[in-house]
Amino acid sequence: MRCLCTALAFFAIYSTATAQATPPPPDTADPYRPALHFSPRQHWINDPNGMVYHKGVYHLFFQHYPQGTTWGPMHWGHATSKNLVHWQEQPIKLFPDSLGYIFSGSAVADVHRTSGFGQPGDTPLVAIFTHHNPLTEKRGRNFQYQSLAYSLDDGATWHKYAANPVLADSNSSDFRDPKVFWYAPQRKWIMTLATKDCISFYSSPNLRQWQFESVFGKTAGAHGGVWECPDLIDLELNGQHYWVLIVNLNPGAPNGGSGTQYFVGQFDGHQFTALHTDTRWMDYGPDNYAGVTWSNTGQQRLLIGWMSNWDYANQVPTGRWRNAMTVARQLSLQQVGKEVYLRSEPVQQLQQQWQWQTAGQASTQPLPTSKAYTLRWQWSTAQAASMVLRNAAGEQVTIGYDAATHQLYIDRVYSS
Ligand code: FRU
Repeated sequence: MRCLCTALAFFAIYSTATAQATPPPPDTADPYRPALHFSPRQHWINDPNGMVYHKGVYHLFFQHYPQGTTWGPMHWGHATSKNLVHWQEQPIKLFPDSLGYIFSGSAVADVHRTSGFGQPGDTPLVAIFTHHNPLTEKRGRNFQYQSLAYSLDDGATWHKYAANPVLADSNSSDFRDPKVFWYAPQRKWIMTLATKDCISFYSSPNLRQWQFESVFGKTAGAHGGVWECPDLIDLELNGQHYWVLIVNLNPGAPNGGSGTQYFVGQFDGHQFTALHTDTRWMDYGPDNYAGVTWSNTGQQRLLIGWMSNWDYANQVPTGRWRNAMTVARQLSLQQVGKEVYLRSEPVQQLQQQWQWQTAGQASTQPLPTSKAYTLRWQWSTAQAASMVLRNAAGEQVTIGYDAATHQLYIDRVYSS
């Protein structure tokens, strides 16, 4: 590898940089709005929900409070994209009702029309979400149930199922965030559900009737907080088939607050078994939470997360909107020694569109005026290296490599 940086080089992109696509112009009226990451026109967002790929469109729903910039009664906002890079915000799709707020959940394309929604020939999109009832919560009774909504016009309009809820449990109050997929070998739907600090699995032939299968996690992984927003995905590595259980946790993450752990294992349609006993994190940084994958994407496993953390999400100083999503990521497996780990990297579309060449010597450079770019940095792993991004106010973020521990780090102690 070529050594482009020495320790504490001040490094930035040269003005001769070239991009393969023109980045959107900076939003001068709103300097904190990210150019690349999806953020709402206005008001609050948290978890990504109901991601489904259908007829060439990636649907992204999200937890949304359209009356303010802090968390409040939850709706499902909606955005669509054809390339996972440029997003168009759409009208709100699910509103709170007499059963409660609309908490997190998933959506599937019911290609076999097992649910019976619509007419023969239709492919209903079915959302499976948690109803959270604030009134029964106040009375100390159970307050979370799983419910359905469906769309017969490719996601444009949605109808709540008249017989909601479809799954309730009188013994559990933390009972939420259903992620559903079609388990082809047994021709049934599997629901992965967060239940306190464990994951419960349910199955169904038709999305309307659910049967308990098993519970995972009592003695596995990190338990510093409640388990939320799980996902169970299958991935291949060298012809071997694995299942990865993604579990979001709040609090208890390695850098405080919210984080995402995962388990590599096997699933037989009833039960998940992990292949390791150590705790594994998707990210060590604090701003990737509640991430789950798109359904209906064939062999690809594409994830997006909420680019925030419950420790400070309500205080981020952004004005008329608050919080954003991470960039979309492609998930795969990687073997290191005898162990198999989850790998996540920005989706291919993003890498192609946002690649810049740097001039590349160690120095202090002004950043380009564009807000969005990919920095490709090569250095020799034989020695420590870092770059410091600094602004006129004297704030700085250091990105570096510690040669002694072979670890990459990001230090944002001196940023606001
Ligand atoms: C995770 C979470 C979910 C819940 C939603 C409520 O961030 O707490 O468990 O469904 O947010 O907005």
